[in-house]
Amino acid sequence: MTIKTLRAWEILDSRGRPTLAVEARLSDGTTATAQVPSGASTGKHEALELRDRDPARYAGRGVLRAVANVEGVLQAALSGCPAEDQATVDRRMIAVDGTPDKRNLGANAILGVSCAVARAAAMAQGVPLWKRLAGDREPRMPVPMVNIVSGGLHTLGGIEVQDFLVIPHGFDSLADSLEAVVRVHAFARRTIEKHGYALTGVADEGGWGPALDSNERALAILDEAIEASGCGGRMSIAIDVAASHFHRDGAYFLETEGRRLDAAGMTDLLESWCDRFPVISIEDALDEDDWAGWKQLTARLGARAQLIGDDLFTTNTVRLRRGIEEGAANAVLVKMNQIGTLTETFEVIDAARAAGWRAVVSARSGETEDSFLADLAVASGAGQIKIGSITRSERLAKYNRLLEVERGM
Ligand code: PGA
Ligand code: ZN
Repeated sequence: MTIKTLRAWEILDSRGRPTLAVEARLSDGTTATAQVPSGASTGKHEALELRDRDPARYAGRGVLRAVANVEGVLQAALSGCPAEDQATVDRRMIAVDGTPDKRNLGANAILGVSCAVARAAAMAQGVPLWKRLAGDREPRMPVPMVNIVSGGLHTLGGIEVQDFLVIPHGFDSLADSLEAVVRVHAFARRTIEKHGYALTGVADEGGWGPALDSNERALAILDEAIEASGCGGRMSIAIDVAASHFHRDGAYFLETEGRRLDAAGMTDLLESWCDRFPVISIEDALDEDDWAGWKQLTARLGARAQLIGDDLFTTNTVRLRRGIEEGAANAVLVKMNQIGTLTETFEVIDAARAAGWRAVVSARSGETEDSFLADLAVASGAGQIKIGSITRSERLAKYNRLLEVERGM
């Protein structure tokens, strides 16, 4: 089967911002689509998301140029290319773009094609997407890391730390894990209200976004909710500090608490959280370019916690290799649109595994109803997935797809 045509159009993501849908049609008539996610707390080393910058439409956020690139340059480059050969498809797009960060054609345009072609190839072969993506890898149902309380750039202001999540363990299935997580989520609301904090609606990833007086308060609330729900001992805590967005001039500004910390001060704070709460995973504890701080953090906390680089690595093998060599972090967050092709996404997951590192497959804060991520997580064997909370259908599309795969796996 070869690629016959590519079509693209502008759709809206879960924040009401434009993104792309791409349709790939193969020579046998098989047609499949894919939708592209978009972040808010983006790392500065991410591949470029092409936006129109036309102030007359969507405040400059339109993606009609990316749409045109799919239907023009990319279709011309890929027409006749074998759809089963994902690496060739992706490498051809990388070559045609010709820049290290895909700024010519846009990582959003390229990723849409990469995923739509993969899905079409799976359909044409009559196999589930996860099975086709897995290749020689051992597929595995991932453990979810589920957002319960949000802060940072995913809320209307308030605390600086972006995500407070739970990781279920000791459950027989994803279905059982989710049942328990939903209970914790409900108890978190009651706990927030019981302590008199204003619930300011749900945050971008579907978790609670309360107005709290400190970052630690969110941990205390989550801890209390886990106990109250009867899940104590079977639910650990993960946090995504997303520290780059409150790092300026070498310092970390926790404005809610009137504190200004250096990297060692941040590490002290996180260590005290690990001592007092069941925190087992910390993402983007420090700034995306604070390599020295990351090394010290890893030396101090690496044996007791999963230290994930998101903005630090931006799903980029060059940055990941540096982290592995220097002992900065011990796990990598994997977001397809940070790098722009499936082939490069798998390279990062495989490089992490070869180094004995863990990988967490992740959604973006701006998502769509596409469930591709669920199949990617299963196929990669990464073992962990971070989708957001258990409300809002752009999140549930992925959880529900995982439940479907679990039933049939
Ligand atoms: P983003 O947030 O999609 O806004 O970057 C997700 C994360 O930081 O993990
Ligand atoms: Zn993150």
